[in-house]
Amino acid sequence: MTIPDVTSLRAPTAVPQTAVPDASGIAGIPGDAAPRSPDLATAQPVDPAAAALPRQPVAFSPESARVDIPILHRTVNGHPLVWLDNAATTQKPRQVIEALGAFYGAANSNIHRGAHTMAREATEAYEAGRAAVAQFLGAEGPESIVFVRGTTEAINLVAQTWGRANLGPGDDILVPVLEHHSDIVPWQMLAKETRARLVPVPLTPDGQIDQDAYADLLSSRTQLVAISQASNVLGTVPPVKEMTALAHRYGAKVLVDGAQAVAHFPVDVQDLGADFYAFSGHKLFAPTGIGALYARPEVLQEMAPWQGGGNMIESVSFAETTFAPAPHLLEAGTGHISGVIGLLAALNWLTSFDREAVTAYENGLMAYAQQALGAVPGLELIGAAPERIAVLTFTLAGQDPATVAAWLDQDGIAVRAGHHCAQPALAHFGLEEAARASLALYNTSEEVDQLVASLRRLQESGGEGQQTMR
Ligand code: ALA
Repeated sequence: MTIPDVTSLRAPTAVPQTAVPDASGIAGIPGDAAPRSPDLATAQPVDPAAAALPRQPVAFSPESARVDIPILHRTVNGHPLVWLDNAATTQKPRQVIEALGAFYGAANSNIHRGAHTMAREATEAYEAGRAAVAQFLGAEGPESIVFVRGTTEAINLVAQTWGRANLGPGDDILVPVLEHHSDIVPWQMLAKETRARLVPVPLTPDGQIDQDAYADLLSSRTQLVAISQASNVLGTVPPVKEMTALAHRYGAKVLVDGAQAVAHFPVDVQDLGADFYAFSGHKLFAPTGIGALYARPEVLQEMAPWQGGGNMIESVSFAETTFAPAPHLLEAGTGHISGVIGLLAALNWLTSFDREAVTAYENGLMAYAQQALGAVPGLELIGAAPERIAVLTFTLAGQDPATVAAWLDQDGIAVRAGHHCAQPALAHFGLEEAARASLALYNTSEEVDQLVASLRRLQESGGEGQQTMR
């Protein structure tokens, strides 16, 4: 087998020129030729005390975000890339890309061990990342944040630690039908193991969680409610705060899956009342393989380790091991240090914008897209919850979703087709598959117009276009 030559990957055609990361600085977090904000990323070395996210965000425009994203300046199949697969993963700002290069080029070290300067600096940068995540989520403090690979691992961690300790025969786990597989399967496995019951909470015809049914299903048996703050397939944003308050009346804990929410609107876990909150960095402009679990301090203190190894212990002997305090006891082994550095850079990047303005912009773009797509012959949008993020899942009469995605790809437009890792939610609409365009802050109405124009051409081409695929 030959190892692919990464240097042969095509470079973007018009990458904005950026400064080479300053290898003389730390520390993992690069200088920025023209920093938009008082960026802790430029600290040298990283000063954990400076780990506060920018306090005075600047005005937002999609162009001000696009200029930072090199990949948006490449072409695909001869057309400028139109990235509408943001619910699957978001594209990365140069600040994040450079942070990774600068870390490995100037600051690489393991953390939490070693007496040398490099270890100390890397540890400080890693912990600055934890502090930044805590601030981003409105958590009580950095010690409430556990680094994980992503949302899926966060949920599995809760299932395997808190879940195993607290669930048993006769207990209920309530999970709305709109959840993605990451927020269903770990609970199903746990229910099987503990002989608890996994109880689906039904949806209304427009794709909201049926609140009457939810209230009826809650009982003293309910130990856990697991609910997404935004659906990856319907876009629905449920009333999580109210649902959490109701669950707490029955003594149940609530896990909020923030995978799709965090990139779209500000989150405050304490205001939500969440016992657990999970998100993935890669859906938040950060690298893959890094994410975070928030756990309310009282709950976190009671959680037993789920993986054993280095980094999570205080002392080890063959007679007995004592564990480090939370959150470290839930982070066995060497963590994804560069991932945390990249996540920190992503948080700095996102919070450098006025987030309320970002949300307002995305909502306006979504309304524009809903109207424009709704006018495409044979196109049906799936889900019509009034509170939603810019996820537009649709079917097109006479075309299967894979064909739609392949056709759009020929025009450089990336959408996802398939079951979107949320088969029960699609089944609610009698579907197995659909196409999905998911928008982010850097998308524009011109890109929506290109999507609509391409879909219209597909419909006009009839079977011919489908077969020849141009
Ligand atoms: N959950 C991701 C998506 O919705 C993978 O595409």
